[in-house]
Amino acid sequence: VLKMADLDLSGKRVLIREDLNVPVKNGKVTSDARIRASLPTIQLALAAGAKVIVMSHLGRPEEGVYDEESSIKPVAAHLAGLLGRDVNVIKDFREGVEVAAGEVVLLENVRFNKGEKKDADELAQAYAALCDVFVMDAFGTAHRAQASTHGVAKFAPVACAGPLLAAELDALGKALATPARPLVAIVGGSKVSTKLEVLESLSDICDQIIVGGGIANTFLAASGKPVGKSLCEDDLIPAAKKLMEKVSIPLPTDVVCGKEFSESAVATLKSADAVEADDMIFDIGPDSAKALAEQLKSAKTIIWNGPVGVFEFDQFGEGTKALALAIAESDAFSIAGGGDTLAAVDKYEIADKVSYISTGGGAFLEFVEGKVLPAVAILEERAK
Ligand code: 3PG
Repeated sequence: VLKMADLDLSGKRVLIREDLNVPVKNGKVTSDARIRASLPTIQLALAAGAKVIVMSHLGRPEEGVYDEESSIKPVAAHLAGLLGRDVNVIKDFREGVEVAAGEVVLLENVRFNKGEKKDADELAQAYAALCDVFVMDAFGTAHRAQASTHGVAKFAPVACAGPLLAAELDALGKALATPARPLVAIVGGSKVSTKLEVLESLSDICDQIIVGGGIANTFLAASGKPVGKSLCEDDLIPAAKKLMEKVSIPLPTDVVCGKEFSESAVATLKSADAVEADDMIFDIGPDSAKALAEQLKSAKTIIWNGPVGVFEFDQFGEGTKALALAIAESDAFSIAGGGDTLAAVDKYEIADKVSYISTGGGAFLEFVEGKVLPAVAILEERAK
């Protein structure tokens, strides 16, 4: 593919698609790893004298309606702080985008735009009309064929890969080509349904899969354990059973439960056999954490995506913390990816102890699966 670094950007209108989909709480960015990862690209374009227009999605708002909750403004404020310069938010890019050479603006959340998710040509053409050069740098959203990631690349005068996207593809490609074994994946997060395919693919290449979070509940239920009111997808129990036959999936023997999903919920440690009807499982217990950490010691490659508990609430964060520290101590080549995972990496301060940190969540997992990322494929097509 064409690379941004190979182009003369001076005086050009450069539209950069980043993945600035970061957690925001009370109008403040709470984990800025993705924003920091995008800085070199933006700075490079600025230094080259480009008129820089950045765009990103944030969350999953309803299309066609503006809602302040999902506004990109907190991201712009944070980015401005990191860049040490103003970053204006363009509320409606169709009314025109004013930007001088060496300046940067940020378009409002692209997911407010009708047709974004459907990859509508009309919207993609409107984005493309903003620029001389389109730079796809959002590795984290490269698995989405949407107007701001894929469609725009069809219509832009020039479409190329940004340095972050190029670096991600390079590093992950090299790491996964011939993994040192045992290869252990940690797959956490809330739902099996959103990660079933990746679990299936990982079951082909991994020696062991550690499941956590809501995902583990479906596996617990599949092995006949009580899960009370926990998040659990009954329709996926057969799929979970099949996976357990195929690959080693150790399950927690103790769990930390709460009666409500809240910051002040009381945490109660229970045996995985003693979960009550009104309990919700929010973390793995200390015995399980210790056993899993021990298993991680012998791993030579670790792929981590998703926390194993509701770590944003401290009382349900010990399991994720224990695994994070085990990864930090391990000699294995470790790769961490995913928004929540990066937030955990930050929270437990292990960033410099993980071999490679990817900005991708779903994209990271699809890459691991060997799937074609549509936003990369279109760049390859354009390069022909
Ligand atoms: C992510 O967080 O994985 C990416 O930003 C993509 O977000 P999405 O799953 O809402 O498309």
